[in-house]
Amino acid sequence: MQKLMMLMVCACVSVAICSAAAVSAEDEDLVAAVKERRDLMKKTVQPAATLGGDMIKGKKPYDATEAAKAMNAISGVPDKYVTLFPKGTEHGGVADSQIAEEDDRSQAKPEIWEDFADFKKIAMKLKDASAKAAGAAEQGKGTFTAAFNDMTKVCKECHESYRETPPKKK
Ligand code: HEC
Repeated sequence: MQKLMMLMVCACVSVAICSAAAVSAEDEDLVAAVKERRDLMKKTVQPAATLGGDMIKGKKPYDATEAAKAMNAISGVPDKYVTLFPKGTEHGGVADSQIAEEDDRSQAKPEIWEDFADFKKIAMKLKDASAKAAGAAEQGKGTFTAAFNDMTKVCKECHESYRETPPKKK
């Protein structure tokens, strides 16, 4: 009898260990999704947009090939981007409880999951607008500027609805 009890206790403990491990593997996936999507914005979208803006402002010489390349880089992001929003990765969600640095936590508003179709629609708008800007690049700076400005309106549109204002840098 005592032996049976021991066996049962052991079985319970190992189930508990296994399920705890499974949960944290899932959490790791959530944390990875936040990191990957933030990196796409920070390391691909933002530098490309900054380069385009600098050319328009004359901080950098206008180069149609470089401008088109930058806009195509942005256009390549949205399809992947919208796959990186599993539930639990909203601002203040499960993923955030696993991320030590406040600066690295999710800035995704919970509203994204209330109307994911709308979020996706704006992402696809960015894909189209940046592709258009890429096409406009070779038609000269004036045409590019107009298309670029149309594109940055989409950044703003999405951030206003779906991005939490990040904490102020000290
Ligand atoms: C479809 C919605 C959407 C569009 C369009 C969009 N963003 Fe974002 N962006 C977000 C969300 C949501 C976050 C916060 C993501 C997070 O915390 O996981 C974000 C975050 C960022 C960040 C902060 C990244 C970081 O980790 O510090 C930058 C920079 C950024 N976006 C730039 C841009 C630029 C530039 C454009 C336009 C060329 C753009 N975004 C278009 C939704 C969007």
